[in-house]
Amino acid sequence: MTDPLLTLRPWESPEVTSWGRMPMNAVDRRTGAHSLDGDWRFQLLTAPGAPVGGAWSTAAVPGVWTMQNAGKADDPLRATVDLPQYLNIRMPYAEFPPLSPVDDNPTGVYEREIDIPAEWAGRRIVLQVGAAESVLLVHVDGRPVGVSKDSHLAAEFDLSDVVRPGERSTVRLTVVKWSDASHIEDQDHWWHGGITRSVLLYATDPLYLADVTVRARADGELRIDCLVRDAGGALPEGWYVSGELDGLALTQDAAFDLANAEDERVSDFLGEARIAARVPEVRTWNAETPELYGLTVRLHRADGTVADISRHRIGFRDVEVVGRDLLVNGERVYIRGVNRHDFHPLTGRTVSYDDMRADLVLLKRFGFNAIRTAHYPNDPTLYDLADELGFYVVDEADIESHDHAHEIADDPRYLNAFVDRVSRMVLRDKNHPSVIIWSLGNESDYGANHDAAAGWVRRHDPTRPLQYEGAAKRGWADPDVASDIACPMYAPLEDCVAHALSGEQTKPLIQCEYSHAMGNSNGTLSDHWAAIEATPGLQGGFIWEFWDHGILQRVNDGRPVGRGGAGLYGNGVAAPGYRWAYGGDFGEKDHDGAFIADGVVFPDRTPKPVMYEHRELAAPVRVSLFRHEGLVLSNHQHFRGLEWLRGEWELALADGRTLTAPAQLPDLRPGETAVVPLPLELPADGGEAWLTLRVTTAEDLAWAPRGTEVCAPQVLLRTASADGDGDPVVSGRVEVDDDGLLVHPLLTAAPTLSLWRAPTDNDELGGMALRWRTWGLDSLVRKVVSIHRDGASVTVLAEYAGTTGVVRHRQVFTPVEDGIRVDEQAELPEEFEDVARVGSVFETVAGLDLLEWFGQGPWESYPDRSGGAPVGHHALSVDELFTPYLRPQESGGRHGVRRFTLSAPEADDLGPTGLAVTLDEPRQVSVTRYRAEDLTAAAHHDELVPRAGCVVHLDAAHRGLGTASCGPDTFASYLVAPGVHHWSWTLRAL
Ligand code: GAL
Ligand code: MG
Repeated sequence: MTDPLLTLRPWESPEVTSWGRMPMNAVDRRTGAHSLDGDWRFQLLTAPGAPVGGAWSTAAVPGVWTMQNAGKADDPLRATVDLPQYLNIRMPYAEFPPLSPVDDNPTGVYEREIDIPAEWAGRRIVLQVGAAESVLLVHVDGRPVGVSKDSHLAAEFDLSDVVRPGERSTVRLTVVKWSDASHIEDQDHWWHGGITRSVLLYATDPLYLADVTVRARADGELRIDCLVRDAGGALPEGWYVSGELDGLALTQDAAFDLANAEDERVSDFLGEARIAARVPEVRTWNAETPELYGLTVRLHRADGTVADISRHRIGFRDVEVVGRDLLVNGERVYIRGVNRHDFHPLTGRTVSYDDMRADLVLLKRFGFNAIRTAHYPNDPTLYDLADELGFYVVDEADIESHDHAHEIADDPRYLNAFVDRVSRMVLRDKNHPSVIIWSLGNESDYGANHDAAAGWVRRHDPTRPLQYEGAAKRGWADPDVASDIACPMYAPLEDCVAHALSGEQTKPLIQCEYSHAMGNSNGTLSDHWAAIEATPGLQGGFIWEFWDHGILQRVNDGRPVGRGGAGLYGNGVAAPGYRWAYGGDFGEKDHDGAFIADGVVFPDRTPKPVMYEHRELAAPVRVSLFRHEGLVLSNHQHFRGLEWLRGEWELALADGRTLTAPAQLPDLRPGETAVVPLPLELPADGGEAWLTLRVTTAEDLAWAPRGTEVCAPQVLLRTASADGDGDPVVSGRVEVDDDGLLVHPLLTAAPTLSLWRAPTDNDELGGMALRWRTWGLDSLVRKVVSIHRDGASVTVLAEYAGTTGVVRHRQVFTPVEDGIRVDEQAELPEEFEDVARVGSVFETVAGLDLLEWFGQGPWESYPDRSGGAPVGHHALSVDELFTPYLRPQESGGRHGVRRFTLSAPEADDLGPTGLAVTLDEPRQVSVTRYRAEDLTAAAHHDELVPRAGCVVHLDAAHRGLGTASCGPDTFASYLVAPGVHHWSWTLRAL
């Protein structure tokens, strides 16, 4: 018997978005449903038409087969398992839309039995498949039941006429990986195949709530629109709805019924009813104080018995665009956003409640208040959590046709798919207070299909603005394009500021992506925020992105570890024998490498240093100095006071002391400031002095236990005094060898000049590393020119030759009390106009494992990413200093270091226990177990072999990080200038 679902080949027909699928709605059927999650019988076919009939293996649902090594073992039909493949823009195959490979199209067949309870007799029985990518074909007992596309939204099928209560049926879900839909699901992440969200079976009364639409405004006005259907056909007489809001009874709106009747809009098969109310003294919802109300909507039969119930947690809030401001409850809120994919290093696209909660809790702790669900509707639970914990959400439809964007945007064959995807997202998520903006998708050019989808949204949900980067690109101020927000990606900051100052701005400017977090990145984030806060019209943006999408992989056989891998990683690093796989690691012929690792957290959610920078930029309370007599404290929130916070003052003095005092946070409304006296008397001695307000949560919150650090704003109270002539010269002798290299018992490699850093992803993709290699900066050849003794000092002149230029370097070694002062000068030729660093590098004996420093910290920081690292006395082990970026690169630097000691933590009294370095000014310093060349040579973190001693860099100048892997490079002020650089430091044995 031929199967119409197969013979019609729906995977090649973009016009067919579904068949037999029920309309999307916002009635949550999760409670009370039967879960069909668990192990299903599974076969992986080479193509959808291939015969099913080999041996079955099993696959976990929900889950992607690409992470389960499923299908192969006893399946003769498949030569290999189907593994993840990472591509950014390019499609993984050459076929033009709407086609995909005919013979090589992995197709998963999932099967299991379902027992239909006898009590379900007479009820409407529905199968819900949470998400399947990319085409889902449903059969029950061999009968075709339905088809669905749209990989990140649920599909429901009515099984009432297909199954029999009290009997057992067999459900088969066939998931075809490549289809016409793949061409509009060409997002920048791993390609997978499978059923990624839960599968449910539920039953309702034949009379049921087909949809519930809630509108809850900040003034307390509440409107609930219900759609009612009866599976039997015509609606029975006398049905009605009622509601309950946190115990407050709500009744059906008679005026609405009357108007419907007068307009002859009453239908006998589609019921419409409204509940309207005004809630007095409503507690409004916003991301700072996400007040939710419990709403229950009941559908009654004529006799008052309840036929159906729909439960919601709702929030009262307004969102609107007024002029060039996006207002939430009338407030121009800053959007401190991040782009988030559904991702997990063990399960691919399947994410659990606990994992999503952990994501959002972490984001809250680091000052984020907004999420763009890049680039598809995320798991439904995410929105519940965003409502509860407080996030503004830009909800994005699952449309990205990146590789064939231009052809598809106006292709009428895809028109239905565009409207289908956008409308289904709106229908699912419309009741979430967290969702404040709809997005039509990502990177799909701009065409009539977008306008059609925008038209649907504007009619259906006039309560929220709409955005689409592809449309906004046509003109940030253009009123005619389908975007209410100017939402560019990676726009240069000066362009944004210029637009805001041009007088032509008509829409809020909120970048949908900015500050690309690939590797060691996010330079100039604080410059962005300084400009945003100083420029009306600029309102924030969404960092790209939350996750480094590294997949946990066994190194010996290259397989994804999958679900069993919990516990095989920590602190951002995979256990020995495992690694974080990125593009190419699964043997993909075409791939885009480490571009998949571009998040602010590692694949295990360990925060990268940029998170601390962000936390400080989002500080709810700020401090500045007031005429050297007092301090100005300000509340930088939008909606609440400081009562949820407590503070402690910390005064760090250059002489090594740290004094503390309790802080009394003033009672400040949003935007208010207060002057408070200095909390501590500044000691007359002690040198440079920094005062930090350590702010923590005063009570347990949903996202942080009491005492969680929230921010640590800092002010400089006293600058370092000019040091006179420095350390007195003493008589003594400095040893240098015949090459002019310092001989020192604590050093295994003498200080030499370094102009090279292991290229960051920004350095590589921005083209800088290529230039540096062309100049030969990675392999400068040192030649000593002269060694000259003058009294106790030794002057060494050397030349460092690249392929195109020569750097002249002078070191003067002078004995000082207990040590040696090193005065250095490097003269860069004109052609080395933009280098990574100019500074000294040396290596120490083994065993010096503890770094203690006075300077910025404790987190890794760089010249253009140092806003979250207050000046103070810090201590970390050398291993902890290092940041394990997936692709090894320059890391572990500390900015603004004034002095440090490197010591053996458990040294005995025999011999020197370490060294101390004092710098002439605050400098960039790094102490690691790797030479720059070690880091440069490794492709994955697990390939690095730590050296016994430390590699120490002291930089006269260090280039900013920028974000050039995707977006603007660092600013000119953070570049290393050519010409002459001077720096001095003193080395002492401890
Ligand atoms: C954007 C795109 C994202 C991602 C990012 C680079 O252009 O929207 O999906 O590719 O660049 O990581
Ligand atoms: Mg893309």
